[in-house]
Amino acid sequence: MSIVTRKSAREIDLMRHAGAIVAEVLALVESELRPGVTTAHLDELAERHIRDSGATPSFKGYNDYPASICVSIDDEVVHGIPGERTIRAGQVVSIDAGAIWQGYHGDAARTFVVGDVPETVTQLVADTRLGLIAGIGAARPGAHIGDISAAVEAVAVPHGYGVVRQYVGHGIGTRMHEAPQVPNYATSQRGMKLVPGICLAIEPMFTLGTWECLVRPDGWTVITADGSLAAHFEHTIVITEEGPEILTTV
Ligand code: MF3
Ligand code: CO
Repeated sequence: MSIVTRKSAREIDLMRHAGAIVAEVLALVESELRPGVTTAHLDELAERHIRDSGATPSFKGYNDYPASICVSIDDEVVHGIPGERTIRAGQVVSIDAGAIWQGYHGDAARTFVVGDVPETVTQLVADTRLGLIAGIGAARPGAHIGDISAAVEAVAVPHGYGVVRQYVGHGIGTRMHEAPQVPNYATSQRGMKLVPGICLAIEPMFTLGTWECLVRPDGWTVITADGSLAAHFEHTIVITEEGPEILTTV
């Protein structure tokens, strides 16, 4: 387990820049998300925007991952690989993007619905986003990692959503995944105390069914074990004296 690093003001500036590029990528992909587009096309747009911004796609080549974004549809929770598949109306599409700017990472994800979906699905997506917001709100100096976890989980519990446990949020900086881990569920551990300069990617994944996940034979695509729909929201944040600051925004 590696050491948790506190980033300097200069490093946070670089992460803010990386984060802005990631936010632009998500907005760009959202603007192009419609029935008929292939997920590979979305990936090409994302990669071009990242490279045109002078940044590097952090996902591409990470453990041999072949693309610049993840596109996870319906029961796919995370790590869906872009390809020739086309988007269809009624789908739930999670987009995850990462970029490196001058050695520093930004990582963020959002879930979108395409066309009309049942109200329960709209609610799942809205509530997963609220889970992220609650988690960010708990990320204040003096609080602990476990407070973030508990705040996220507390949004899911009243609705009976599955809260994915196999995948968690993480520290982030010169590497995409740094210590500490940030679970989306309360544990017996309080976790480390939060201090200014700590950068975290908080990323709740909620489902309409079980929390249990499986990985498809492609070795990447994470799906819900029961085929239920899933949503995923992620921001990279920094803890400041005043509270959390979202870095993956423009
Ligand atoms: N954004 C993901 C995370 O938070 C990473 C995607 S996995 C990759 O951990 F292989 F695509 F990079
Ligand atoms: Co992440």
